[in-house]
Amino acid sequence: MRNLILGIESSCDDTAAALVDTEGTILAAANVTQTEIHRPYGGVYPELASRAHVAEILPTLDKALAEAGVSPDRIRAVGVTRGPGLIGPLLVGLNTAAGLGLGWGVPVIGVNHLRGHLRSADLGGSRVKYPATILLVSGGHTILAYMEDPRFIRLLGATRDDSVGEAYDKVGRMLGLGYPGGPPVDRLAKAGESCIQFPRPMLNKGLDFSLSGLKSAVSRYLESEPNASYANVAASFVQAIVDLLAVKCRRALMENRSASLVIVGGVAASPQIRSATAKLCAELGVRLCLPPERWATDNAAMIALATWDYIRANVHPRPVPNVRLSLVDY
Ligand code: KG4
Ligand code: ZN
Repeated sequence: MRNLILGIESSCDDTAAALVDTEGTILAAANVTQTEIHRPYGGVYPELASRAHVAEILPTLDKALAEAGVSPDRIRAVGVTRGPGLIGPLLVGLNTAAGLGLGWGVPVIGVNHLRGHLRSADLGGSRVKYPATILLVSGGHTILAYMEDPRFIRLLGATRDDSVGEAYDKVGRMLGLGYPGGPPVDRLAKAGESCIQFPRPMLNKGLDFSLSGLKSAVSRYLESEPNASYANVAASFVQAIVDLLAVKCRRALMENRSASLVIVGGVAASPQIRSATAKLCAELGVRLCLPPERWATDNAAMIALATWDYIRANVHPRPVPNVRLSLVDY
């Protein structure tokens, strides 16, 4: 019986393959991350990312197939990220998927990476109660969305400039904490006091975000106060992010009847963000869903799971790259 999807993800700095069944159960998931390759550059270096995907894609696929221990004739379709992402890395996954589809005689579906993220909380046993408001906060994206059920996604808001992860990484670099900046900035923040009034752009306006002003304010502060306490700067920056996210989530939950608030993406690992949103959810009587970190960051199981949504909706986007997809696109 062909009841498995092979998912492939290569949009940024993770090469990943996974096999997922109709129920969303993960039979195997292999992932090679490139953090160490990009660390010296303080961000993802696209050409090096492409080369690493070329080197890793076939071994990663072999690993996932061996781990699942299933023969390819169980595979119903190949789902592969078609965007948004870096063009070189995307092409590696898309061409590999096209070859597999041709060889196995199965359809290849081009999956919107953002849909994958928004479905990721249904992986690994932590099922979401719908309708749900979803906050995606990663290095590449900052998005608020509403899902009445897994197939219907409505975009509520998005960043107009930097993502939250980018802001963390840039502030991490200013404070000499290396890349990625999220975890060390959070750690340093715990040792400091939130006593610097950094701006909270667009706090009182809708559900969009803007973070470049906050990042510039931190940079200007460090220039004007050469003896600043880095711990206090980190604490004040994290507090501004926490306030922004908490206010936007509250507004989204008040405006859209939700059983759950789901937070996905690498930044969801932040303890400060976790505790602020837990408090908010307790107050509003909403369930907080934080998927395990493995499924909250880029992975192929979320792409495979989203592929089922396409099949059920009878939507088969061609596996061609699209670096500018938005959530309203399937
Ligand atoms: O989803 P992700 O792993 O990768 C992509 O964006 O593709 O997100 C990475 C981002 C980085 O910007 C990193 O600094 C941030 O997530 N991050 C965190 C934490 N852990 C990772 N940000 C804040 N607090 C953390 N504990
Ligand atoms: Zn992603």
